[in-house]
Amino acid sequence: MALRSRIVGTGMSVPERVVTNLDLTQWMDTTEEWIEQRTGILERRWIEEGQKPSDLARQAVLAALEEAELDVSDIGCILLATLSGEHEFPGTSFFLHEAIDAGEIPCIDLRAQCSGFLYALQIADALIVAGRHERVLVVGCEVHSTGLDVSTAGRDVTVIFGDGSGAVLLEAVDADAGPGLIEVRVHAEGKHARRLWTEGPGAALSPRIDAATIEARKHFPYMDGRFVFKHAVTRMPEVLLETLSAASLKLEDIDLFLFHQANLRINEFIAHKLEIPKEKILNNIQRLGNCSAAALPILLAEASREGALEPGKLVSLTAFGSGFTWGSAVLRWG
Ligand code: UT7
Repeated sequence: MALRSRIVGTGMSVPERVVTNLDLTQWMDTTEEWIEQRTGILERRWIEEGQKPSDLARQAVLAALEEAELDVSDIGCILLATLSGEHEFPGTSFFLHEAIDAGEIPCIDLRAQCSGFLYALQIADALIVAGRHERVLVVGCEVHSTGLDVSTAGRDVTVIFGDGSGAVLLEAVDADAGPGLIEVRVHAEGKHARRLWTEGPGAALSPRIDAATIEARKHFPYMDGRFVFKHAVTRMPEVLLETLSAASLKLEDIDLFLFHQANLRINEFIAHKLEIPKEKILNNIQRLGNCSAAALPILLAEASREGALEPGKLVSLTAFGSGFTWGSAVLRWG
């Protein structure tokens, strides 16, 4: 029997602590108007001291399992996409593994930044279609707040990022049965890696971190914002159309578009370019900021809870991020 992967559970978790644009003005030279006008963001969630990425991931995973009415022991493998590992190694997935008491289920961290969820989805799908695992858990998890420069020097990057986690559980189903993942396409262009990165700590630096590295602010993220913006608004529509074409679908066939939540203006630009009606797009960046690899699974979990995902609906997901990486997926809900 030919197999296909179907999402049988979604979950999300964001910290309780709300950081508004007004809050940010205490620490840096910015204004509520600048942030809202340039990014669409009104507030984001940042962890409290002592909270860890795996705490957020655990809550998202438990919610996904509850929705699927399944247990941890039903999972065959865990793929966790993140750019903000709990520790430099082994990352985050192993601490999630410990937190959910996952026995000896294999797990890995996957690093494709804001496109990480789509990269993980493609790999999970391949594992399922090949018959390697019956169920694969895909998690996106980010804690950006502990790595941001909240002074004026970091204001361009810091205002856009939020913390959060989202998870989906994929299950093998009969490919002829109807619902499930139809197509995922991903790409990368490493020559632009330094346009959006955190240089240290890293093995290319010796020592990996010291006072000089910190003095040079290499431990804070750097972004060439305009360059990234231009590439995002080109690559996202491109890969979205490529994916639909590979699935023999048209833009008009899609019921719901979920875009990476990096900047509301990017998503508005894409919607305008592709003439996608507003009511077919869900955004949550206004409330949550940019949660990188967690953005798409959080949107999916919210859509599921808000009843925006009726069985049979066609959903398109598209992202762009550091690497550069970009990708798109299309699935039939159900
Ligand atoms: O998630 C991964 C992918 N990431 C993205 O897709 C993000 C893409 N880029 C962006 O979203 C935008 O480039 C930003 C929101 C990051 C920045 O917006 P921008 O319109 O590109 O601003 P800019 O960096 O070109 O800066 C314009 C001005 C500068 O001042 P001058 O030189 O014109 O006097 C900045 O210093 O705005 C200033 N500025 C700020 N002012 C107040 C930059 N950040 C801030 C701030 N508050 N937070």
